[in-house]
Amino acid sequence: MLSRSVSVSLGAVVFFILGSMQAWSDETLPGDPVAGRIFVERECGDCHDISREGGDYPLNAAPSFLDVATERSTTALSLRVFLRSTHREMPDLILNRREQDDVIAYILSLRAE
Ligand code: HEC
Repeated sequence: MLSRSVSVSLGAVVFFILGSMQAWSDETLPGDPVAGRIFVERECGDCHDISREGGDYPLNAAPSFLDVATERSTTALSLRVFLRSTHREMPDLILNRREQDDVIAYILSLRAE
């Protein structure tokens, strides 16, 4: 009885992990880039150039989001990891899951079509 319920919940965990990995792949971005743009204008625009055209602030170490987007190593997953981790030079902003999705969708939308 016990082992049966353990394997059922294990199955649920595996299913959940696979499900979230699916959501992390670039092909199935769940976020809304328009909402992401509004969010980053408000929360990130003091330090990052968030525009489609790109450009850096002269006295600022923060890369433009265009540069982030065109960096080859950037993926939805790498952005998510960055947004969830702590940083030395950037404030540790707490974004909820939906905000993360939207910001990721916006940043990746800056890549040349
Ligand atoms: C107070 C200034 C500041 C704010 C506000 C800020 N950042 Fe940053 N950010 C930085 C600096 C400085 C760096 C470069 C150093 C680093 O990578 O930690 C950076 C780096 C990054 C990078 C990594 C780029 C790379 O090298 O791959 C991403 C992605 C990023 N920021 C996203 C965001 C998002 C999204 C927001 C808004 C929710 C935001 N930042 C708000 C200062 C800021």
